[in-house]
Amino acid sequence: MTTDVHLTWHEHRVSREDRERLNGHRGCVIWLTGLSGSGKSTLANVLDHRLSERGIKTAVLDGDNVRHGLNASTGMLRETHGEEFAQRFGLGFTAIDREENIRRIGAVAQLFCEVGIIALTAFISPYRIDRRRVRNSMREGDFIEVFVDTPLEVCERRDPKGLYKKARAGELKHFTGIDDPYEAPESPELALQAGERTPEELADEVIAYLVSRRILP
Ligand code: PPS
Repeated sequence: MTTDVHLTWHEHRVSREDRERLNGHRGCVIWLTGLSGSGKSTLANVLDHRLSERGIKTAVLDGDNVRHGLNASTGMLRETHGEEFAQRFGLGFTAIDREENIRRIGAVAQLFCEVGIIALTAFISPYRIDRRRVRNSMREGDFIEVFVDTPLEVCERRDPKGLYKKARAGELKHFTGIDDPYEAPESPELALQAGERTPEELADEVIAYLVSRRILP
């Protein structure tokens, strides 16, 4: 691990293996990626519920929610921390802001893996390079990329927050799939044809995959 001159990495007394033994399953991150309205958050919630019922320790990290706290926008931070801080640390939807959003989420997801928890992340994460960086930062096998492959037309028809409508009207700029790119995964661990299937069916497929990989007992 690269460290600055005056920073030292500490090993902890309770290892990841100890924690996984206590939990009775491995830690990993199920990285859901897909367009806005593709069903990432709904699937993360169904998975969270199903896995919790089986006694599996999980944590959900979701785009809209995380952007209210850890990755708050400039506008939100301005109110609490002032202009200079907000300009420096607030995140929006430019390519570089999305890069930092995903970097931070990757670091948090890694912490969850290290304590033997299954992190369920639901972020558009539109850029391949950002997703690849998270994958490369983790232990082999920890990053399970799941493409929630719902066609744009379906997402736009659903439009649960009215954002596609605003983007089409030019009221919302840099909207993924409209005037901002989405780079579909080239070799995800799982690609879910999510347009016409229920979240429960999709969750079954993810769980079957986790069992086949022996991540779940
Ligand atoms: S990213 O690309 O991974 O950094 O985005 P993410 O953190 O997942 O945030 C996506 C949610 O933010 C809302 N929103 C936008 N999405 C895409 N493009 C633009 N310009 C935008 N502005 C706001 C939207 O509610 C997304 O939520 P989901 O759940 O994906 O629909």
